[in-house]
Amino acid sequence: MPRTAVDRLAALLPPGFTLGVATAAFQIEGAVDDDGRGPSGWDAFAHSPGTIADGASPDIADDHYHRAEEDLALLSRLGVDAYRLSIAWPRVQPDGRGAWNEKGWAFYERLLDGLLEAGIRPVVTLYHWDTPLPLEEAGGWLSRETAERFSEYAAEAGRRLGDRVDQWITLNEPATVTLNGYALGVHAPGKQLLYEALPSVHHQLLAHGLGVQALRASTDDGKIGITNLHAPVSAKSWRPFDRLHAGLFDAIFNRLFADPILLGRYPRVPWIAKRNFAPLLDAVRPGDLELIQQPLDFYGLNYYYPVRIGAGAGPAAGAPTGHHRRVAALKRLPFHLADFPEFPRTGFGWPIAPAHLGTLLVQMRDRYGDTLPPILITENGASFPEPASTDGPIDDSERIDYLAAHLESALDSVAPGGPAEGVELAGWFVWTLLDNFEWAAGYTQRFGLVHVDFDTLERTPKASFEWLRQLTAARERTAA
Ligand code: FCB
Repeated sequence: MPRTAVDRLAALLPPGFTLGVATAAFQIEGAVDDDGRGPSGWDAFAHSPGTIADGASPDIADDHYHRAEEDLALLSRLGVDAYRLSIAWPRVQPDGRGAWNEKGWAFYERLLDGLLEAGIRPVVTLYHWDTPLPLEEAGGWLSRETAERFSEYAAEAGRRLGDRVDQWITLNEPATVTLNGYALGVHAPGKQLLYEALPSVHHQLLAHGLGVQALRASTDDGKIGITNLHAPVSAKSWRPFDRLHAGLFDAIFNRLFADPILLGRYPRVPWIAKRNFAPLLDAVRPGDLELIQQPLDFYGLNYYYPVRIGAGAGPAAGAPTGHHRRVAALKRLPFHLADFPEFPRTGFGWPIAPAHLGTLLVQMRDRYGDTLPPILITENGASFPEPASTDGPIDDSERIDYLAAHLESALDSVAPGGPAEGVELAGWFVWTLLDNFEWAAGYTQRFGLVHVDFDTLERTPKASFEWLRQLTAARERTAA
């Protein structure tokens, strides 16, 4: 991107706006047996046949556990304000209850110290999908007890790391865990329960509420939030059944996870699916919703793509799921994800629709009004086909365009006079620093600003890395 374009974008950034990058422990750390780490539900899932594209193993991933220094140096070169990382729960508490693993905590302490020395604020996600295996085997998020265990873990994390962490995120995308993990079975734990997966919604939200309380009690001044995945949902046509199912999908995907947190109640669901929600309501006990609706310092929002819904089980053409496994449960759904022929697509097949990020922010303001805390876009990015090895920087201009257009759309939307005026947008995190283990897609989807050769583990910054470096530098110039 020419300098002038970077300068122009930098000039749009309000003072104090956070520019960051995000990662998740399971996707980069590797070292799955090192220093007392226990297995997670994801280790077990990924090692069952047919779950991961190309049969890839997450055991080494980016080997970040052993290369954290090198990765810190990359972050420091990038000049970002903040780094969002996640703690692998089974690394610090192998059984998910009881004894703590000192070596696991020591790894994160070193990492946080390294960030602080580099002047980068640590943003820490407690749960980015790697449930300790013993807890998963005892029911995982279908069991209410997992929420209690999570709250003990959150309290301990607060006690040990509270003096170093700037912002805490309790859970990452509980919607994906429920939908992909428990309802459709394309992620760990691989269950295809459809509506019977709904108790996992409530127990994750409960874990969030208990986790916020635990962190507030064990830390002094860290700010606390959650990260939810959001997508503006539209209907494939004006036909009433398409619209009804779009409303149903919107309730399941967006509102189910945001309404209880921000409004203290579960959303209304269209009549077509009312009866199916019984497993959710059965899980709710008196006082739970008050617990879930904790005051938050920020609301984390991940945005990748918009969703268009049609009635009836469909071919899932262009479905933004990116899963090679076409599971049986998908065919039993009463709706399908329809294509967006008007938009170009990422390597995952996800429609590239930056204007929809602006629309999403409008929707958040309209739905949640004054109850909406400042928003942090905690993930935004794209994968594109790139070679397995490289001799020099990859010219990933598509990624640069994707990132610039999305950041600009978000900033324009919340600017004075913009359609989402009134929303406080506090920051934006690129997904992600390094090419990594992209869950069920294995190593086939490269989202990184830095190319990783998975044979040699060599890191090579892409052109998009240089672009973000220029943006952070231009902003400093503008501020000076
Ligand atoms: C999000 C996940 C993240 C990564 C991106 C591509 O849903 O939170 O770990 O897989 O998608």
